[in-house]
Amino acid sequence: MTLSFSDTYKLNNGIEMPRHGFGVYKLTDEKRMRTALETAVDVGYRLFDTASFYHNEKELGDFFASSGLKRDEFFVTTKMWNTEQGYDETLRAFEKSQKKLQLDQIDLYLVHWPKQDTFFETWRAVEKLYDEGLVRAIGVSNFEAHHLDRLRTSANVLPVVDQLETHPHFPNRLLHRYLEELHIVHQAWSPLGRGGVLEEQILIDLAKKHGKSPAQIVLRWHLQNNISIIPKSETPSRIKENAAIYDFELTEADMHQVDRLNNGERVSHAPDVMYVRSEI
Ligand SMILES: NC(=O)c1ccc[n+]([C@@H]2O[C@H](COP(=O)([O-])OP(=O)(O)OC[C@H]3O[C@@H](n4cnc5c(N)ncnc54)[C@H](OP(=O)(O)O)[C@@H]3O)[C@@H](O)[C@H]2O)c1
Repeated sequence: MTLSFSDTYKLNNGIEMPRHGFGVYKLTDEKRMRTALETAVDVGYRLFDTASFYHNEKELGDFFASSGLKRDEFFVTTKMWNTEQGYDETLRAFEKSQKKLQLDQIDLYLVHWPKQDTFFETWRAVEKLYDEGLVRAIGVSNFEAHHLDRLRTSANVLPVVDQLETHPHFPNRLLHRYLEELHIVHQAWSPLGRGGVLEEQILIDLAKKHGKSPAQIVLRWHLQNNISIIPKSETPSRIKENAAIYDFELTEADMHQVDRLNNGERVSHAPDVMYVRSEI
């Protein structure tokens, strides 16, 4: 399987999205964030994943403005938070994100979590932003099959991406197959399980076998499973390490070894727990 860092997915609306991006959750210290972003751009990252909830869209926007990157050389994803869902609320949230990011057009706008009371209104607002050309693509995050089925009963535009907690402890295989049927790209959040999976002996052994680190084994496993990844790190050596996963390949047996780590343990909430807690 020949893969490269510059590979893109052609999304179901025809636009191209880098497969391997950089997550910026919890990057709030301005100086550390800038160093991390500079390192990420140097090693070739071109997709940046933020959200209004991360409180760093302004800093990310400042970085782009001074980076020397042309607008078509980077891809930005952002999301409205749960308290910003609803028709008018989503339009207002988008305007705030757009202003902070200092961009005329956002590449990908996601509904952060499926929230029951404003479910259809939020998507209607997101579709309006898409119809008006303010976003190049629209998608969802933390949507399970039943949320997607509900959305499909009234959506005019289908999501291009579903961003989901996915790592060896929680591989989300069933949902992955459903997303493939719907031509929706599965993007893994917390692809490293926030670092929690990296102590697993199976990963340590595979890392030794391939002369790589456990994190590199995990990221490569995602790619070979046809999953988009957005690992976060604020450590320059790790940012470089997480990009250096294109010079080796896991065998089928290696892939099965990693599959054995599935224990159903999430690092965060199940979507329906967030879903009913409309205050968060
Ligand atoms: N849609 C959603 O609901 C949702 C939820 C959560 C996250 N996300 C997105 O997904 C991105 C990634 O998820 P995440 O940040 O939760 O978790 P993650 O990428 O799985 O893990 C990040 C953690 O792993 C450490 N790490 C990174 N590379 C490493 C390496 N090579 N070796 C050892 N440790 C390493 C980082 O430490 P250092 O930073 O200290 O190096 C950090 O503590 C986020 O930044 C965000 O953009 C989306």
